[in-house]
Amino acid sequence: MLGWRLRTPAAAIAGIGLGIGLMTTVLVPRVEAQTPAQREQAARKAYEEHMRRMDEAEKAAAAKPATPPAATTPPPAAAAPPANPPAAPKVAAPATPAAGMSQADQDAATERGLEQYRRMMKEDPWSNPALLDADRGEALWAAKKGPRNVSLAETCDLGKGVGKVDGAFAELPRYFEDADRVMDAETRILWCMENFQGFDSTAFRKNPHPGGGQPVKDIGAIATFVSHKSSGMKLASKKDHEKEKEAIALGEALFFRRQGPFDFSCATCHAESGKRIRLQPLPFLSDPKEAKVVVGEWPAYRVSSTHVMTMQHRLLDCYWQMRLHRLDFGSDVSVALSAYLYDRARDGDIAAPGLKR
Ligand code: HEC
Repeated sequence: MLGWRLRTPAAAIAGIGLGIGLMTTVLVPRVEAQTPAQREQAARKAYEEHMRRMDEAEKAAAAKPATPPAATTPPPAAAAPPANPPAAPKVAAPATPAAGMSQADQDAATERGLEQYRRMMKEDPWSNPALLDADRGEALWAAKKGPRNVSLAETCDLGKGVGKVDGAFAELPRYFEDADRVMDAETRILWCMENFQGFDSTAFRKNPHPGGGQPVKDIGAIATFVSHKSSGMKLASKKDHEKEKEAIALGEALFFRRQGPFDFSCATCHAESGKRIRLQPLPFLSDPKEAKVVVGEWPAYRVSSTHVMTMQHRLLDCYWQMRLHRLDFGSDVSVALSAYLYDRARDGDIAAPGLKR
């Protein structure tokens, strides 16, 4: 047990208009003066301080004239999606010089705030509460569980041999002969739980990811542990087997395929530098340079939802943003997308679990 108890209902952080409600919850240590509790509190304080600065930057920007002289500003050619409900997230174009000073000021203030926040997260890696989930994952990996009462440590091969965790994450996704398919870390862990421990995954598959404020589920915790055991290494997903190449190619096709009610592809939001939705930067994921920076940070503790978010969860969330059919956990499509992302990010540093806004 981690010793956490949810005390207050989630309180929405208003005022910075992220477009989605960023939820925060107060976590209270059950046992006083636990070091992890203090870490959690420090992370929370830092986040609240960040939000306060963001609010100030927004207010300062709003205090300036909202519309610069009309003659000089043609309305920006907005890439607006069809205006059908549910509303599509607005994709902001990179800095529009024509919009004049107030826009430039606002962009600069935003950028400064974001930079400060990134630095803060890097300064103290131990402030990352995801390490608690990595610990939980380690215990789960070693525990005898399921109808067959065996542990993953004595049965599950993540690609480097049964029970071997060090460096395994770095080479995922990869092809597994026993399953005759390519799998990422989470998909493989679930496969082992089903096939060796004898778990029935029906209920899990219906609801594989935590809601805001809920801890990451067991598989996510194990994935966090597994990723952490490759931290400091380079991303080196396998690309030898025919099926590995196929998965990457399918992921690439999916990344650029426009679909759904808004006719979005992943590339709509992730194939340009400097794009963002409000304050959220949208990394240029098909560009190895940017992919290398962010992909190795997953799974990551998401301060805005106060839990670890895994790559499967991240992808599901982006599918939701595209208003597509729910992305099934461990499906070929989900694995292909991650195979593509890990291929783009090849040789990037693994810094997992990361810490994300
Ligand atoms: C409507 C815009 C939109 C689309 C389309 C979209 N995403 Fe995202 N994506 C986002 C947003 C917003 C974030 C979160 C940024 C944040 O929280 O700071 C994000 C984050 C991500 C991240 C994490 C990046 C990081 O900073 O570490 C990955 C990976 C990702 N998306 C993959 C995809 C994939 C793959 C697709 C296509 C299936 C996709 N996205 C489609 C908006 C989008």
